[in-house]
Amino acid sequence: MKILVTGGTGYIGSHTVVELQNKGYEVIIVDNLSNSSADIVDNIQEISGIRPLFEEFNLINREKTADFFKRHNDIMGIIHFAAFKAVGESVQHPLMYYRNNLDSLVNILQGMIDNGIPNIVFSSSCTVYGQPDELPVSENAPIKKAESPYGNTKQISEEILSDTAKTSDLNVIALRYFNPIGAHESAIIGELPLGVPNNLVPFITQTAIGIREQLSVFGNDYDTPDGTAIRDYIHVVDLAKAHVIAVDRMIEKNMNKQIEIFNLGTGNGYSVLEVIKSFEKVSGQKLNYKIVARREGDITQVWADPEFSNKELGWKAEKGIDEMTLSAWKWEQALRK
Ligand code: UD1
Repeated sequence: MKILVTGGTGYIGSHTVVELQNKGYEVIIVDNLSNSSADIVDNIQEISGIRPLFEEFNLINREKTADFFKRHNDIMGIIHFAAFKAVGESVQHPLMYYRNNLDSLVNILQGMIDNGIPNIVFSSSCTVYGQPDELPVSENAPIKKAESPYGNTKQISEEILSDTAKTSDLNVIALRYFNPIGAHESAIIGELPLGVPNNLVPFITQTAIGIREQLSVFGNDYDTPDGTAIRDYIHVVDLAKAHVIAVDRMIEKNMNKQIEIFNLGTGNGYSVLEVIKSFEKVSGQKLNYKIVARREGDITQVWADPEFSNKELGWKAEKGIDEMTLSAWKWEQALRK
């Protein structure tokens, strides 16, 4: 059974390809390598023993996307990861974000409808909840006005999917991720930020390995126990496994509704300082960090209510924070060898 993974050479995409292959799916990756490299296809093969098919093109190209779907109309389902994801960059270049993240989705949906491909899993984000009024945040929490064009593309994408489903046979599972971190246990694939990392954990590991001088902790005056902001960090392999379950659910026709939405988090919140402590413990390294001003647009705290996903998908995040930071550290060390 053939599954298309867009953005399959990216961070979450590559881990998901491995898990799909482990479950016997045939995977075809489409990626324009804008934030990854073709070596990842080799790395995936090294882990799973199976080389995924790979086509390099940009899904915002309408003709190329239409042609792709014509050639691969036997695809049973799509997991759509391919998107830009840097919050700050999206504020600087809003049109780049809207064009890239929305045009690609529209082209994919057109290809699905034209070729009778029924199932799509969409990469959404907890950013759609903004700073939730209640914690933990369940799937029924209200969608807040997006803080960034990036966040807005996730909200609009969910709306595009919902509107399209109303007038077609499309099945949609939108997965709202909390903060994915960590790497595959083999340390053969992991997160590969281009340039200076925006996200916490790659910044920590790059500082520890000596590429960055010092980590800036953005604010210790939040209304939290230690004053630093709290997130629900989830191991990328736990996240990847949830995608395989979502694909199974669609193919086995186990969905309760045409559109289903699930939170993917652990249900546990950790502060920035707690993540640093976990890293220091598992790595035996003392991290060079300093407290600086808050980062614009950051919320105080968010963590998931994963109960609906646990119950409906029969999925639960299994790996704890120390396993997450240790795997990230092993990956960083392997990368720099
Ligand atoms: C952000 C986006 C999320 C997106 C994710 C991946 C929001 C609200 N969230 O998550 O939608 O999917 O990036 O790109 O826009 N921190 C530091 N120092 C650093 C880096 C981060 O202290 O150098 C702190 C942040 O202030 C935050 C926490 O670490 O409290 C996590 O930050 P980060 O890893 O960037 O993720 P989010 O901002 O939560």
